[in-house]
Amino acid sequence: MSKSARDVLAGIGVVCLALATLAIVYLATGFYNVGADSDHTGLMRFALATVRERSVDAHADDVTVPPLDNPKMIADGASDYDEMCTGCHLAPGMAENEMRPGMNPKPPVLAKDPPDSPAEAFWVIKHGIKMTGMPAWGVTHSDAEIWNIVAFLNKLPELSPQAYRALVASSNGHHEHDDSLAPGMKM
Ligand code: HEC
Repeated sequence: MSKSARDVLAGIGVVCLALATLAIVYLATGFYNVGADSDHTGLMRFALATVRERSVDAHADDVTVPPLDNPKMIADGASDYDEMCTGCHLAPGMAENEMRPGMNPKPPVLAKDPPDSPAEAFWVIKHGIKMTGMPAWGVTHSDAEIWNIVAFLNKLPELSPQAYRALVASSNGHHEHDDSLAPGMKM
């Protein structure tokens, strides 16, 4: 290798080291504001959104979607959604509440902004999303229960407030939680 090529490589090495040191100092000094009421910087927002989208896309590829048009599944999913999800994602006829405006990221209103696909919805509901507040419901719920919710989410954008309430009322109510806790989690 010629001397000038070596100098260029050494220069690149020094710059990389300096950037890595700066990044560590920036992250470790507490300079970054993690308060939910301040926006992310553009770079952090881009990095988080890209990681989240690519991760969900990649993981949802392995999900096999069952038939979702069974009315019983949809009704059971509606009642679970009503109990577990509306505080963050609202439902037809529901006004803004006092929690969502302070959340960062803000949970999407799923009736207006539905998930990209049933496979992605299933994966996100089962595993949650780190550092967003979206819980991993698979820790306390079976795959079948989560598919019920996905089946319901397919219908959600077309429901009026009346149709939504009727669908929730048509199910037998929320399942018994104790039965669905993982072994060792009984209280
Ligand atoms: C404590 C608040 C909270 C609760 C409760 C909650 N979520 Fe979420 N959820 C979030 C947040 C925050 C995000 C989005 C984060 C983001 O922008 O990446 C999210 C994202 C999602 C997404 C992905 C949306 C998309 O288009 O990428 C789906 C689907 C979802 N939630 C479904 C549910 C369901 C179903 C329930 C109930 C079983 C539920 N969530 C309960 C906070 C919540």
